[in-house]
Amino acid sequence: MTGSARIGIITVSDRASRGEYADLGGPAIEAYLARVLTTPWEPDRTVVADDAPLIEDAIRTLAARGACLVLTTGGTGPAPRDVTPEATAAACTSLLPGFGEAMRNASFQVVPTAILSRQTAGICHGALVINLPGQPKAIAECLDAVFAAVPYCVDLIGGPYLETDPAHIRAFRPASALRPPADDRPAAG
Ligand code: MTE
Repeated sequence: MTGSARIGIITVSDRASRGEYADLGGPAIEAYLARVLTTPWEPDRTVVADDAPLIEDAIRTLAARGACLVLTTGGTGPAPRDVTPEATAAACTSLLPGFGEAMRNASFQVVPTAILSRQTAGICHGALVINLPGQPKAIAECLDAVFAAVPYCVDLIGGPYLETDPAHIRAFRPASALRPPADDRPAAG
């Protein structure tokens, strides 16, 4: 695959979607990716209300536009309007519950209410979809717990070869899936 990796970012919030307050979660995700990814990437952003069909449609649309990774923020809790995990399950052909388990576990070391998040992950049309809580500070807390596994997951679903800055996150791949550093690769012909 050539060009930059497309990454979908979905802020799920009734109030942010109505413009009643600024979207802080989406920019926090972008700032995290800018710190961690060394592969060129571009964000594909959207803000939607806490409405399951709208969230499901946003996930499907970003995946269909070529995102290899879609990160959502918000709507994972127990309140009646929190429906992001249901919309994610509806959009995905398979679920990866280990992501939610690992993120809750790591977050629970930081805040007891971490167990209120029902965040999950799954695969939608060639994109890895990961739910994050709405709190901006939760974004790095959660992604730090799972991001080492993200590049290999993206490999396995046919996406671009994502590389990370080991000063922040050391991506883990089995030895058989490792590529030589970019400088040592033969020029594309
Ligand atoms: N996880 C981390 N790392 N940090 C947090 O502050 N907040 C929790 C939880 N997970 C939190 C967290 C709280 S208070 C709630 S209600 C749930 O995420 C769901 O948040 P959401 O509905 O905004 O997605």
